[in-house]
Formats: sequence, C-alpha cells, structure tokens
Amino acid sequence: APAPAAADPKLGFNAVAKDLADRVTVPAGYTATVIYATGDSIDPAVTDYKNDGSDDNFGRRSGDHHDGMHYFGLDAGGKPTLTSNDRALMAINHEAINGTVVFMHASGQTNAGSSAGPRPEAEALKEVEAHGASVVEIAKSGGKFAVVRNSAFNRRITPRTPMSFGGPARGSALLKTKYSPAGTDTRGMIGNCASGYTPWGTYLTCEENFAGFFRRGGADDAARTAKELVAFKRIGLAQGAGGGQRWATVVPVDGTSTEYARWDTSKLGASTDGTDDFRNTVNTFGWVVEIDPYDPTSTPVKHTGLGRFAHEGAWPSNPVVGKPLAFYMGDDSRSEYVYKYVSKAVWDAADANPADRLATGAKYLDDGTLYAAKFNADGTGTWLRLDLSNPAISGNGTYAFADLADVLVNARLAADAAGATKCDRPEWTAVNPKNGEIYITMTENPDRGSVGTTSSNNVSNPDVEPAFPRYWLDNKGVSTQNASATTLKGNVNGQVMRIRETGNDASATTFNWDIYLFGSQAKADAGLDDVNYQKNVNLSGLSDFNDLSKPDGCWFSRASGILWIQTDDNAYTDVSNCMLLAAVPGQWGDGGKIDVVNQANGKPGAAGTGPVTVTTYAGKKMNDTIFKRFLTAPLGAEVTGLAESPDGKALFINIQHPGENTAAANIADPSKYESHWPGNGAGVAAYGPGGATARPRSATVMITKDDGGVIGL
Ligand code: FEO
Ligand code: CA
Ligand code: CA
Ligand code: CA
Repeated sequence: APAPAAADPKLGFNAVAKDLADRVTVPAGYTATVIYATGDSIDPAVTDYKNDGSDDNFGRRSGDHHDGMHYFGLDAGGKPTLTSNDRALMAINHEAINGTVVFMHASGQTNAGSSAGPRPEAEALKEVEAHGASVVEIAKSGGKFAVVRNSAFNRRITPRTPMSFGGPARGSALLKTKYSPAGTDTRGMIGNCASGYTPWGTYLTCEENFAGFFRRGGADDAARTAKELVAFKRIGLAQGAGGGQRWATVVPVDGTSTEYARWDTSKLGASTDGTDDFRNTVNTFGWVVEIDPYDPTSTPVKHTGLGRFAHEGAWPSNPVVGKPLAFYMGDDSRSEYVYKYVSKAVWDAADANPADRLATGAKYLDDGTLYAAKFNADGTGTWLRLDLSNPAISGNGTYAFADLADVLVNARLAADAAGATKCDRPEWTAVNPKNGEIYITMTENPDRGSVGTTSSNNVSNPDVEPAFPRYWLDNKGVSTQNASATTLKGNVNGQVMRIRETGNDASATTFNWDIYLFGSQAKADAGLDDVNYQKNVNLSGLSDFNDLSKPDGCWFSRASGILWIQTDDNAYTDVSNCMLLAAVPGQWGDGGKIDVVNQANGKPGAAGTGPVTVTTYAGKKMNDTIFKRFLTAPLGAEVTGLAESPDGKALFINIQHPGENTAAANIADPSKYESHWPGNGAGVAAYGPGGATARPRSATVMITKDDGGVIGL
C-alpha cells in the first residue's frame, strides 16, 4: 500500500448542497459513473438486464442492495497485487431485497403477505440468489473502470453456496444440521451488510440481520429447551415470526429439496440431535465470512471465533510484525455492543501474499480471543474477555454456557454477562492508517434513556451512559422528523466515536475513548422546534455544508488520509437524501469533555432538578474546512460501501435501495415509483434500459476527478 500522507489532508472541493431530488450529486470537477447495478449479467451466457422483472438466474447476475465492498488489485498476469490501479476484483455485498416493492419480479411478489399461500419457487429462488456477495473483475480503459463480463474470476456467492466453519464452534452440537450432521459445514450466507478485508488478501463479509429471514412457528416455544428460548429471545426471533420473504412456504418442485424448508427453524424432525431437522439452522448464520476473491473455486469460511451477532463489519488493526492482529466489529442493533477479536498468532510479513490465503485465514482467525467493550465515565474503557476464563461468564446465572462454542454462538449473552456497555447501534469501524485510532459510527438509538421498555432484541433499554450522552434532551429540534414527537426520542441523529488502544497496541485490554462527531441538523440550535430542547443539540457545530443524521459507513482512504462518512437515515429525508461526507481526522482529544447537563431541561451546567445529571462529551467542532458533504443519493437510497484504487484516483461507493419506499401496489405504474435511478441518468450517465421510467436499482458508483487527481483533495 502507498505510504499514508504525512499530515492531515486538506479538503479541496466545494461542498454539495443537501438535496431532495432523484439523482446523485457530486462537487464541481467530479464525475460519478455507475459500473454495476442489480440484475447486471456477469456472464456472457446470461442475458442482459431487462427493465421488466423477467430476468432470472441471479446466481450469475448482480445481487440487490449493494453494501460493503473491497478492491483487490490484479496484476497483468491475474495475480494479487496491492499496486494495480487499472485492474482489480471488486468484492461487493448484497445485503437484502426491498421490503416493499420487489422490482426484480415482473409484478412484484406473489403471496408476500403473512397470511397468503406458498411463495412460488421461481420467485423465491431469484430472491435467495439476489442475496450474498459478488466478486467481479473490473478493468480501466480511457480513465474509467468497467466490469469485465467474461472474466473467469466473476463469481456470485449466495445463500446457496457451500461454506465451511472454522474456529472453536466448528463441530459444535449447536451447529449440527441436516445439511451437515458433523456441524462442520453450512449452506450460504445472508444479510451481508458491511465488510472488511485481511492483510493476506481476502474479503470479509458480515451477516447482519439474519434472524429476520427465519420463520418460527406459533408453538415452537414448547418444543425448545430453556436455554434455546433464552438464545432466541436474545437474537430477537420470537415464536410466531413469519420469516421475511416467507421462503419456507415454498413447495419445491422436486419435492425433496431442503433449500426452502431450512428457513423455518421450527421444523423439527423425529431426531432431536439436530441432524434430522432445522432447529439449529439459524445458528449457522450471523457470522463473519472469509472469501478468497482470487480463487473462484474456493469454499468460503465462517470464522466462529469472531462471534455470532448482527455483524456490521470487521476491520483489521494496522498490522505490526510480531504483534497480534485485531478486528473491530459492531453489532448493529439498538443497545448492542462493540467487539474486537485478537489473534493468537502474531503478524508475519511473509503472510502478506501467501500461497494459500484461506490457510492463512485459519492461522489468524481461528485461534484468538473475543472481547466486548465497556466505556467508562472517565474516558477510559476496558475490553471484556468473552470466554469461560471470565468468571462473569462461567458463573453466569441467566444462561449456563456449556463451552466456548456456546459463548461464541451466543456472543450477545456472553457480553451481557461480562457487563459490556450498551451502545447506540454500532455500525462501521475504521482504523486510521496513520496512528491506529479506531472510529466507530453509532448510528442512532431512539430508545436511549427510555428505561423500563425493551428493545427489539429484548434487552432492557439503557439509561444514560457517559459515552452516549444524547438521550431525551435531544427529543426536539433535531430534525422536523421529530416535530410532532410528544414522547422521548433518545439519540436520533447518531454519533461517531473514537477509541485509542493503550500503548497503541491492538491487543491491549484497555483503551481511551472520545466522541468525534455528533449528527444533527444544522439549524437545530437555532430553535427549530421546542424552546425547551433547542440548545445543546448541534454539539459539533454543523452547518449547511456538513449537517448529517445517522452516520453508518466510515472508512479511511489510504491514498488521501480522508475519513469518509456515509449516512443511512430514511427519516432525515425531510432535510436531505442520504449522503457521503469527507472528514479530516484531526487530533486525539479534540472532542473533549464539556459539561454537566441537567436531564430535566437539557441545559448545560444547570442544577440537578431532573432525575440525574450527567457529564457529556463534546464532539469535535466541525467547520467546513475539515468536514463537508461530497455526494448526495437518489430518493429512497442509503449510501454505503467504500473502496478505492490504490492511487486514490477512483473512489467507489454503493447506492443501496433507491426507490424502496414505492408501494407494492404501484409496480405497474412507473409514474408512481419513488425513484428511476440510475436508468434516468440523473447525476450519472444513464445506466441500463428504461430511461425516465426505469425501475430503480442498487448500484456501485465510481467517482473520478475530471483532472485525474486524488478524490477529495
Ligand atoms: Fe446493514 Fe447496519 O446496516
Ligand atoms: Ca450499515
Ligand atoms: Ca444503517
Ligand atoms: Ca439499508
């Protein structure tokens, strides 16, 4: 990789305005180009995408809902390299399909409703295969990348792709299924949200909202052990859950396939050892999966040592020869935890380009220790060890962990027992290549402070934590999304936190933290709504150049040193569509401790007439020289995924689910689609058929600078 810049980068573009149009905007002097959209063929034998929902064979097309991704350089001979700026394999996650209108079918979904009949197999097959990940070759000519449709590297990995387990839970009773009675293998991956990569040249893809894909029958509780019930409750899979797209209702044409039946985790066979039924199938999802993008015949590996939860992403520490590697991970649900995995093996520079990448993966990812973070009030923190050597886990009364496999399969329960800090939905983590500091997006938590209720995962909602100071005082005045709110709303705009490991050692068990940035609407402090709650909301001093809500993606460019931040807020669209912003990382501690806030009136320094007073931490003050908006998205879309060519002259992002708010009943009427992007050519060259009436598609977008320079500088 190129050496990081010597100093903080200087942002060299003019901020784009907030935008509510169905288009992509980028700064003057930049061009956005779509290179890979839902339904694109990756095989010359598979037909071009048509704008009518008739395409099948999604096992050889782009999946839907592009999310995390990574650029893997290829040299002229097709070998891995970190220095190629004109040829690469792009690994891209396909997290989900639309929950409202499903544009990949001609007339939307058949029998989508909870009380409808069986789903047609052909529709379900398309939907299943639209999940997972792509590995596609891209090559540059004339200054722009395009997908190489006939590349032998092109591959779709889907919920049907055979995978193996690695790590301590491999072979565990909890992973034994009809598909793999030995509990060593499994079939496919689901809900692949954000991503990661390894220093040995493989892709990490992370299963997030896996539980929602499963049906649980209305009487399943009675067939389960007490421990199973605790485990189901903790992943939010309630008895009676209908299971997402209801794939389990498919009656397969061959009469014997378990392809669909497995999505009903309450289908219990005669045997109770897990080998004759689907009781454990849900345990085979929720992992970090390693893929070797350079070997299209390789079998992906689910590394159980990194724990099972709603994984957002898994990003490595900066490798140091002779020291362990760490991977930082968020569990993206309200009131969940930040985790890190530390390898037992220490980094050997000879592993940077190994002959057997997945064997190297086993070396670093299958023997190590999982930790969860505790954020203390004084700005320090502790990594709590999640194994049976921790007496809080071995002696836990809520759930009697049988062994390490049980701890890893039920990592949330282990982190509960250990006493980790409930966070405001931890999403991406980004490690600063210059100094190893870790940035973490905490996207939102409206439940923060609403003590006594329970979250979707049945965790008792947290009261105020010093690391999460925005609770009900931010109820009003944050965005017009809350203008009519009469109840307390917690942290609705999110924040970006920062961790610095003690001694800059990724294997340290203690750290310091601060808050880098608070999301807010710029005019919140100008008295947007309610006079009682208008102050102390825009804590980072955001302006119209950089105000944002619900930070999600965050990622460092190694070429420019810019920290890129992306948003996913479908409520902030009264203010702007989602966006990509560029930030200068700044110095440790510049988001310092500020004030004591009275919970009764939300005002700094006031006497404690409310239930409690708490110390809050200021975000860094973000003027438009160090933080500004670079891109806005089409209607209904989130901005996610970040990758670059090593020279920093091509930046890639994903536009996820444009038009997702279209009503299912309107699929036959393009005039009622929320979005027609990218077929409408709005902000990009028109991509694919359909023009102004195109069906909307998720897509990977390449951003280039018209003068050929590094993006953002
Ligand atoms: Fe799939 Fe947490 O975003
Ligand atoms: Ca995300
Ligand atoms: Ca999100
Ligand atoms: Ca999304």
